[in-house]
Amino acid sequence: MAKFFLTTAIDYVNSRPHLGTAYEKIAADVIARYQRLCGVETRFMMGNDEHSQNVFQRARELGVEPLAFCDGMETAFRDVWARLDISFDDFIRTTEARHRTSVTTLVSRLAEAGDIYDGYYEGWYCVSCEAFKPEKDLEDGNCPVHGKPPQWIKEKNHFFRLSKYRQPLLDHYAAHPEFLQPEIRRNEILRLLEAGLDDISMSRTGQAWGIPVPSDPDSVIYVWVDALINYVSGVGYGADQELFETWWPADLHVIGKDITRFHCVFWPAMLMSAGLPLPRRVFGHGWVHWQGQKMSKSLGTVVDPLDAADRLGPDPLRLYLTKEIAFGQDGDFTWDRFEERYNVDLANNFGNLVSRLASMAHRYRKGRLVAPPSAPGPLAEAAGGAVTAYREAMDAFALHGGVAAAFQLVDAANEYITAVEPWATARDPARAAELDRQLYDVSEAVRIAAVLLTPVMPSSCREVLARVGAPVVDPGLNLDRDAVWTTPPGAERQVVKGDPLWPRLDPDRAASNVEKDAQRKASPPREVVGGKVRVAADAGAGAQRREQRTMNESEQPGGGAAAPAAAPPRSEVGGSAPVGEGAATAEAAAPRAPETPRISIDEFAKVELRVGRVVTAEAVRKSKKLARLEIDDGAGVRQVVAGIAKAYEPESLVGRHVVFVANLQPAKLMGIESNGMVLAALDAAGQPVLLTPDDPERAPAGSAIR
Ligand code: MSP
Repeated sequence: MAKFFLTTAIDYVNSRPHLGTAYEKIAADVIARYQRLCGVETRFMMGNDEHSQNVFQRARELGVEPLAFCDGMETAFRDVWARLDISFDDFIRTTEARHRTSVTTLVSRLAEAGDIYDGYYEGWYCVSCEAFKPEKDLEDGNCPVHGKPPQWIKEKNHFFRLSKYRQPLLDHYAAHPEFLQPEIRRNEILRLLEAGLDDISMSRTGQAWGIPVPSDPDSVIYVWVDALINYVSGVGYGADQELFETWWPADLHVIGKDITRFHCVFWPAMLMSAGLPLPRRVFGHGWVHWQGQKMSKSLGTVVDPLDAADRLGPDPLRLYLTKEIAFGQDGDFTWDRFEERYNVDLANNFGNLVSRLASMAHRYRKGRLVAPPSAPGPLAEAAGGAVTAYREAMDAFALHGGVAAAFQLVDAANEYITAVEPWATARDPARAAELDRQLYDVSEAVRIAAVLLTPVMPSSCREVLARVGAPVVDPGLNLDRDAVWTTPPGAERQVVKGDPLWPRLDPDRAASNVEKDAQRKASPPREVVGGKVRVAADAGAGAQRREQRTMNESEQPGGGAAAPAAAPPRSEVGGSAPVGEGAATAEAAAPRAPETPRISIDEFAKVELRVGRVVTAEAVRKSKKLARLEIDDGAGVRQVVAGIAKAYEPESLVGRHVVFVANLQPAKLMGIESNGMVLAALDAAGQPVLLTPDDPERAPAGSAIR
């Protein structure tokens, strides 16, 4: 069986994980889960880097023993990783005995190779980087990474003959272009090698916190030399030869771009000196930025990953970081963007697809879908294309590309539903087999999309697979077997209904974090329009909203609840429908005689009518009549609640153009905010008949109505 040994950088434990360090672990976890999905025996190792001076100082500040401090931090780190669903197989700490054994063995090998000699180091040292800093690299006398002045140190050290490995390293890079990815990092390291290498100090004197140099117990091994060796100590180097031979060399080290020099120059040189094989690949990912700079504890620019996971769930966070940041490049985290993507990708797109399927499957087939004898529809080909693109991207560590390929299939399934209109098919009993095909194909597309997204959103996809009645859910999935379109005639599956997987986020109750609250307070009132938060044109809008009449007060005989007081009677099925089932009903909305007083053109001009396109639609829970729509209004997406669910299957509205009142004050219906009113004529039975432009191509979303 193929094997894959994958590692991340081990974290300094002087502070808790932040979203930047968590990003690395999530990305590596996606890779590990993808390998397992491919049937590859995978060993995924992470851990903590404990022999740093910062850790020692932090423990001293707190008045605890360094080891006891590290024990506590291990628990804190493990808790975060568990919450983020990081599936490591091994967690190493550099204070463990197994690590000390390997470090001592490997450093002894370097000495035996004649690569260690005594000398003096005099120069700058940044404790935050735990790195010696050449004068030329400082910016205004500060460490360029941490913006702090480094220390001047002068001490007797043991040196490693790094310079000896310059040519062997260049040769290795030439022979193994895949060794360091992405390309940009490789070029940086090649430039560095071409410029020449100095030997490096590999010990520190006058410190007790660390692993002693085997030949000199008064010195401890430099923390980076110590830390790098974790990659082999985790697989038994110097202690368990069989384990070591099973897993070494590592297939991939996932690390941040700031530490490529350590991993791609020092580490391979140390391995060469010790006569050990080099890791097959190193991937130097980019940084998560916060407010324009690297998220970093020492810069004070951090977001707690638990806050982000608590806000929308660990899977949405994993999706955001994987999909929105091209793996290898830097990317931003902002609460607004996180929430926006959640609404767009999950609530409106994938989640809506799963709900649409479940509601149609139950409405038309009591949840039991049977594949008919006919050939599969176009979704089979879309799924094949998505799987191919997904594999290509994931194999190249383009994690964002893999997710995008899976979402192509989600999009294709949503578009297919809009195009074939299963609700129309369902109206004709002669088309029963056609309806079976449509529903089964959609369920198969959802199943395959969930298989592909399993590495990114493991627990949500497990739920999606269970809901579409998939025969296998994770663990136990296999890409070769389970990402293949399979709809043999007569195959059956039971689709399960459930609560929305990702309820749409009401941006008015958005992130409770200080940063966002502060941002809000400083800004003019905002108006919610679907997935986006818009600053209201009228700064008084918030106050108006608070003064708004209650729904019962706003009831009008024609159901025109929140319509402007002077407006002529309009048949409406929009945001002004009263709370509960009764009000915007047939009886209440029956055609009425045009006996209302006439209004002036100026009065009419106060009403802003526009064309909108329905982006998503779903029945409002516990209501037979209300549907929650998201309408593209040409400038954004807004939420409107409409009393049309009895006359229209909500799913059938997706993609349709409607006419709506755009400047209505927001109103709450069944607790859901509605920002507008969809217009309809009323038939003889008082049922709404939607108004729609004759030619939506000429009057697309946002078009004004006069
Ligand atoms: N202890 C060393 C690594 C030793 S590996 C043999 C270290 N620790 S760290 O805690 O500072 O960083 C751990 C990892 O998180 C590193 O790969 C680092 O690049 C990464 N990141 C730290 N801040 C980050 C962001 N803001 N964004 C993305 N990754 C970030 O370095």
